[in-house]
Amino acid sequence: MLIAAICLLHLVQAAALKLDDRPRSLPVILVHIHKGFGSWACQQAAFSNGESVVAPAENCNWIPHDTHARSIEGHTVANTIAELRVKHMTSGGFTFGMIERPLWAEDYRWTHFHYAVLMRHPLKEMDSNLNYEIARDDHKDAWWSLSSLKRALGLDPDSKGDDWLDLLLSMIQHRKQGRLLNNYGWSSWKALDNFKIRVLVAEAWTLPPGGVNRTHLEMAVERLNKFYAVGAADEDDVIDANCQLFDRLRWTNVSASLKVNTAPFAKLNLTRGREEVLRRLNALDFELYEHARALAEEGQGPARRRPRRFLHLVE
Ligand SMILES: *[C@@H]1O[C@H](CO)[C@@H](O)[C@H](O)[C@H]1NC(C)=O
Ligand SMILES: *[C@@H]1O[C@H](CO)[C@@H](O)[C@H](O)[C@H]1NC(C)=O
Ligand SMILES: *[C@@H]1O[C@H](CO)[C@@H](O)[C@H](O)[C@H]1NC(C)=O
Repeated sequence: MLIAAICLLHLVQAAALKLDDRPRSLPVILVHIHKGFGSWACQQAAFSNGESVVAPAENCNWIPHDTHARSIEGHTVANTIAELRVKHMTSGGFTFGMIERPLWAEDYRWTHFHYAVLMRHPLKEMDSNLNYEIARDDHKDAWWSLSSLKRALGLDPDSKGDDWLDLLLSMIQHRKQGRLLNNYGWSSWKALDNFKIRVLVAEAWTLPPGGVNRTHLEMAVERLNKFYAVGAADEDDVIDANCQLFDRLRWTNVSASLKVNTAPFAKLNLTRGREEVLRRLNALDFELYEHARALAEEGQGPARRRPRRFLHLVE
């Protein structure tokens, strides 16, 4: 089993290496995992590397079908949108676009697009989602706000402290849905429950808390193995400007200088002290992340390798 898995990985890598010297022949769709440097990547595409970004777009996400707020309820709708995307990108002559919502099997049109992804370290991504999405309460009582989440957890919406987070993690651990929102739209708790897998595999998006299993990881890996370019930032949010991802995209002018989405308020340290439990609950996402790192490293293509140039990303 293990040997088979290793052989499979080698085959994938061999295929990946062969692709390396081919010119970029198709428009790129970058899977924008929320709080995973998608905004930064969009700036790099649009302002620094001459991509013709799909329009209309918000943060490089095609409006209205591929934005963060869009909820796609199943294969049929996904298929219709995917066909529209092919027509729209082709007739507009666009070279680049992003999808910032869960992707159904139909969203992957391997013969029409090159798929790319930038994977952020899971703990960093969770920290960012906690700071910018889950623990923010500047739109009090809006459905996505912290007060609404506290209410769903059966807590006083005005209660102070971060007990709500431990309660939420215990619900994920014990696979309890209770009154937690779970539909095809954004639900903040999913950012703490194997979020990367849920995004790459929309078929897993509405699984209940703790419901993502190895079958869904395998689906995510199978999709990821077909990607044209994979990049991964490390646990310090550092990435090599000359890594496989940018090399394949032919982005030669990558810089970390533009700050995007910096916190409008004091940075909370909500993952601190909870790393162990977060790692345990998100073990499958960690496996996916490690697989992405291996793909990124092995697909580097020794002949093309340039000296490393490290960038510290901020989001
Ligand atoms: C490189 O990117 C910067 C912005 O980050 C831009 O001002 C500059 O024109 C780009 N250089 C080239 C050669 O495209
Ligand atoms: C994972 O869960 C799905 C249902 O969501 C089930 O069909 C499948 O058998 C499970 N896989 C494993 C490995 O437990
Ligand atoms: C979070 O931790 C950092 C580093 O220890 C500290 O400087 C900062 O004040 C902390 N922030 C909060 C809101 O506690």
